[in-house]
Amino acid sequence: MINGTCIGVFDSGYGGLTILDGIRQRMPEYDYIYLGDNARAPYGTRSFDVVYEFTLQAVKKLFEMSCPLVILGCNTASAKALRSIQQKYLPQYAPDRRVLGVIRPTAEVVGDISHTKHIGVLATEGTIKSESYKLEIEKLHPGSTIIGQACPMWVPLVENNEFDKPGADYFVKDSLDKLMAQDPLIDTIILGCTHYPLLLNKINQYLPQGVQVIPQGQYIASSLEDYLRRHPEMDEQLTRGGTCQYLTTESASKFRESASLFLNEEVTVEHITLN
Ligand code: DGL
Repeated sequence: MINGTCIGVFDSGYGGLTILDGIRQRMPEYDYIYLGDNARAPYGTRSFDVVYEFTLQAVKKLFEMSCPLVILGCNTASAKALRSIQQKYLPQYAPDRRVLGVIRPTAEVVGDISHTKHIGVLATEGTIKSESYKLEIEKLHPGSTIIGQACPMWVPLVENNEFDKPGADYFVKDSLDKLMAQDPLIDTIILGCTHYPLLLNKINQYLPQGVQVIPQGQYIASSLEDYLRRHPEMDEQLTRGGTCQYLTTESASKFRESASLFLNEEVTVEHITLN
C-alpha cells in the first residue's frame, strides 16, 4: 500500500508510462503513484468537457491518495483540461496542490533544437485540434512555424501491441508523409502523444534525412526537477522511498501485462474506480 507523500502521474492509459519512466530515471528517489484510466481510454477523440471531467476525477483521486503534486502525463489531458484545473479548480478547492502538464516543457525546449524554426507536431486529434502546441510554441518562440498532423491510428497500434509489427509501417509512414507534405522545411518533430515513443523504431525508419524527433520523457523530467528546485515548499513535502504504485480503472492483470512493454519490468497494480 501507499506510504509517504507521492508525485502522482496520470494518463488516459499506458502512454504516460513513457513520461513516468523518464521522470524516474532522473529522480528515482521520490515516491510515485501512476494512475491510468484505461477503462475509458483513449481520450484523444473525446470532447473538451469529457476530458476535463475525467481528468479532474483522476486528479482528485490522486490528491486523496496523498499526492500534493500531479503531472498530467497525457498530452490530450494537458491540452484540454490542465488550464481549467489550474485556473478554476485549484484556487477554490485545493490551493496547496499543484497540477502540471507536458505541453509547456516540450514547447520550451523545441525552439532551441530546431534550426529552421519549422516544427512539426504529431499527436492525437484532440491535441492537434486544441492548437495547444501551436499557441504555446508561438508564444515562447515568436516567428516559428508550427504544423500539426493527427495520427489517429498510432494509439490503437500501441494499445493493441502492434507497434513493432509489419502492419504498423503503413500508418507510421502515412502520417509522417502527410506531415512533411504540409511543410518540407520541418526539421524537428514533437511526438506530442505519450504513446508514440513506442513507435520510435518505425518512425526513425521513415523519417526524412535531417529531421529529428523529440520524445518528451527526458524534457518533462528535467522540467519537473527544475520545478521542485524552485518550489522547496513542495519538494520538502515529498517523501523519498523510491517506490512506485500503479493504479488502473481497467483490469489489474491486463495493466500488469501491458505495462511491462512500456517499462521493461514487472509491476504491482491495483484496480480503482473513478467517479
Ligand atoms: N496519452 C494520450 C496523449 O498523450 C494519448 C492516448 C489517448 O488518446 O488517450 O495524448
